Amino acid sequence: MEGRSLFVTDVDNTVLGDDDGLARFADWFSKVRDRVKLVYNSGRFVASVFESVESTGLPGPDAIIGGVGTEIGFAEDSFKRRPWAPHEGDWDAELVRGALDEIVELELQPAHLLSPLKVSYYAYDADEGLLQRIRQHLASAGLNVQLIYSSKRDLDILPASAGKGQATARLAEHWDYAPEQVIVSGDSGNDLAMLQQGFRGIVVANAHEELLALSGANFYHAQASFAGGVLEGLQHWLQM
Ligand code: GLC
Ligand code: MG
Repeated sequence: MEGRSLFVTDVDNTVLGDDDGLARFADWFSKVRDRVKLVYNSGRFVASVFESVESTGLPGPDAIIGGVGTEIGFAEDSFKRRPWAPHEGDWDAELVRGALDEIVELELQPAHLLSPLKVSYYAYDADEGLLQRIRQHLASAGLNVQLIYSSKRDLDILPASAGKGQATARLAEHWDYAPEQVIVSGDSGNDLAMLQQGFRGIVVANAHEELLALSGANFYHAQASFAGGVLEGLQHWLQM
């Protein structure tokens, strides 16, 4: 891939998870840094990802998208969090929680993982029947929201305009990158939307089954896990 690129990657179990791989990735990445913008895109909030940048070997990013596409912080703005999904008129976190009150299989995540734009639960090994029941409750309450299930545990309910995929597309547009100049990588369900936007995708070898089934010319399935797999995918797409 010639010219400038935008690389947007999930953090946990994608670039983080194996220190040796991370060191090799960071070393290699420093050589292409001047022509590749770097963005972390996580289910965690911006501040939490920034802490990881400071406490690990992760290269410093140009921006961090947090809370599953609901917020962003730019490097030039010292990663100050600001909302990133256009606010939908019919989104109301309290109404979402109320609509799901009766579903006993759902355990609300701790308060520091919730925000006015992100309602998250733990739903261990949820099957399609349970997810369908949850969708019905939300629909009966007249809520047009998006439901994302990851890693057989995490259930995020978000405004319809949020999610890692739409957040990445919005950033690519903001910085003026065409889809073919954007490379994304991930390991679990909340990365699916980002991998299905027509960008160049990297799926690390340790990915959950929800991503392993992706196929087609836009996907590179790495042999290696974690950051080693990301490095392999970047070398593939950037042909270096
Ligand atoms: C991160 C967030 C959690 C979310 C999960 C999946 O672990 O902290 O709230 O449910 O990502 O998106
Ligand atoms: Mg992950």
